[in-house]
Amino acid sequence: MVYKDCEIISNKEIAQGIYELCFVSAQIAEAAEPGQFVHVKIGKGLDPLLRRPISICKADAGQGVISLVYQVVGRGTKVLTEYGPGEVLDVMGPLGKGFPVIEGKCAVIGGGIGNAPLLELASRLRSCDAYLGFRSQGYKVEEFNACCSQVQLASDDGTTGAKGFVTALFDSLKQYDAVYTCGPKPMMRRVKEMCKRDGVKCYISVEERMGCGVGACLVCACKTQAADGSLHYSKACKDGPVFDAEEVMLDE
Ligand SMILES: Cc1cc2nc3c(=O)[nH]c(=O)nc-3n(C[C@H](O)[C@H](O)[C@H](O)COP(=O)(O)OP(=O)(O)OC[C@H]3O[C@@H](n4cnc5c(N)ncnc54)[C@H](O)[C@@H]3O)c2cc1C
Ligand code: FES
Repeated sequence: MVYKDCEIISNKEIAQGIYELCFVSAQIAEAAEPGQFVHVKIGKGLDPLLRRPISICKADAGQGVISLVYQVVGRGTKVLTEYGPGEVLDVMGPLGKGFPVIEGKCAVIGGGIGNAPLLELASRLRSCDAYLGFRSQGYKVEEFNACCSQVQLASDDGTTGAKGFVTALFDSLKQYDAVYTCGPKPMMRRVKEMCKRDGVKCYISVEERMGCGVGACLVCACKTQAADGSLHYSKACKDGPVFDAEEVMLDE
């Protein structure tokens, strides 16, 4: 795990309210697994106080470059848009448990900003279909096209792909050996149900509020179920953010 100031190469809006920030870190790019995240200190002072977790969208080990895709939702992500090339970002990572890369035919199913962590995964899978849902304008679609066998799109307003939920793009997931999902909880709940029905292995990346990002503060506790049915709290930052769908409870 690296903890350092990294030079920013670019930070640009790539869809409405969604930015891509690329920074240099050979060590993080080399070590990163798909689905892992970095914990970013935004701003110089105490506001915002806590680091913000952002998933690794792409890790280019050859160039030593990491790409993050983030949506502006509050103070931290707004301040992040003000960083420019040449400035440094205080980054900790790569953190957490990522997606296991499985041989065989796989699908990634994403919604909103949850599509971002699926790109590095899609690029490492040997056979992958992508189902991507957006609110309106899509992002990174060409890069998914470049590494996936097929890409199907949906959006809430019909601007990108079919109008409606991404989960309406398929009736069955039976043809897949594994399905990976990240996005809004109702979408992931539906994907989990369909995988259970179709007997397909499913991995879910959860998004919980975080404090320390390294397993010390318990801010990120999420409910999980062991194989014997007993309920526990796991740390999304250390035990996750990726969990076996059988294990993670997607409560409201
Ligand atoms: C493992 C992990 C990976 C993530 N990857 C990405 C990513 O790749 N791209 C991206 O845009 N965002 C990602 N997020 C979410 C991101 O961390 C939050 O959007 C960010 O911390 C918000 O900071 P803020 O200061 O802008 O907003 P705040 O002012 O802190 O909050 C604004 C709003 O966002 C909600 N919010 C804040 N943090 C979270 C959170 N962690 N989970 C759910 N809701 C939250 C708040 O409840 C509030 O409604 C990830 C979160 C986790 C836990
Ligand atoms: S964020 Fe502190 S334990 Fe997970």
